[in-house]
Amino acid sequence: MYDIVTIGSVTRDAFFKSRDFRVREQSESKTGKEMCLDLGAKIAIPEVIFTTGGGGTNTAVSFARQGLKTACIGRVGDDVSGNEVKKELKLEGIDDFLQIDSVHKTAYSLILVTEEGERTILEFRGANDYLSEKEIDWGKLKMNKTGWLFLDSLAGNKELLTQAIKWAKENNLKIAYNPGKTEIGFGKELQHYLNEIDIFIVNEDEAAFVAGIKYETVKEEEIFVELDRAVKGIVVMSKGPRGVVVSDGKNCYSAGIPDSPVIDRTGAGDAFGSGFVSGYIQSNGDISYAIQLGTANATSVVQYFGAKKGLLKKGDWGNYPRVVVSS
Ligand SMILES: Nc1ncnc2c1ncn2[C@@H]1O[C@H](COP(=O)(O)OP(=O)(O)OP(=O)(O)O)[C@@H](O)[C@H]1O
Ligand SMILES: [Mg+2]
Repeated sequence: MYDIVTIGSVTRDAFFKSRDFRVREQSESKTGKEMCLDLGAKIAIPEVIFTTGGGGTNTAVSFARQGLKTACIGRVGDDVSGNEVKKELKLEGIDDFLQIDSVHKTAYSLILVTEEGERTILEFRGANDYLSEKEIDWGKLKMNKTGWLFLDSLAGNKELLTQAIKWAKENNLKIAYNPGKTEIGFGKELQHYLNEIDIFIVNEDEAAFVAGIKYETVKEEEIFVELDRAVKGIVVMSKGPRGVVVSDGKNCYSAGIPDSPVIDRTGAGDAFGSGFVSGYIQSNGDISYAIQLGTANATSVVQYFGAKKGLLKKGDWGNYPRVVVSS
């Protein structure tokens, strides 16, 4: 019997860090900054780190470490990377329901990290784009009465999103949703799916986009009015190094982050979201406790390369005091 099942992306990640990855301001760039490499040069990388990633497996590992019996649904290729992911999930005590794609390869990301811990990701999505609701054996997923479904990046597969929500409802499961880039791209249309969602987790840009509001022009409150109306349960809006704001429709809770070093910010969102949901489950719905565990988990993960190293085990709160939550 599972306490939680995650559905989402699966990747193999390689981290290259170099002080030769320079950052410069560039108004024509989408983010206002560019990472620069000398054209034609050969750039020596002192160290390379290989890990597995993808929201589906990162959150599964996080839940398992928090003591939840966890199943993970995703899709990999019939290749070495796919096997690596399977091995890692097994080591963490997670039951893998990974679909094996005989045509498309396991997703692979090359993550270029600057001296300051900021990064640019070169992403090959591979098998993730073919995650299929038809190949999920829902009957095999025996869930606890108090079980949860955690939805992550679904590659824009609306049938999968619809079916997963329907299955969760039929089985009286609660649903947490941290949508991927493609689902965020649905904009306001994504709101149609949110009236069944118990915990909706997005960063501030994503929140504004789904609310249909230009972030620069409005106040945070307007986004929350819109999302509180659309989401059945709690809205969690993360703001990177500026912390998080959470609304349960009646009260708002907010917290910053501890003063801590950042080696690589990859996986902060997954660590926060899965930590928040774990905390929410452990405390029977205490939002302040959930924010504290999510923040501790994210703070720990950004101190290491990769999205899994540093994910906290149950009872371990990492090296920093719990953040103060104001409401
Ligand atoms: N540099 C940082 N140092 C410490 N904690 C951080 C840092 N960045 C993010 N966090 C924590 O992680 C949470 C989620 O981060 P963020 O808002 O960047 O999510 P995201 O944009 O969804 O990230 P991702 O790209 O990983 O999906 C934040 O609310 C914060 O608690
Ligand atoms: Mg995110």
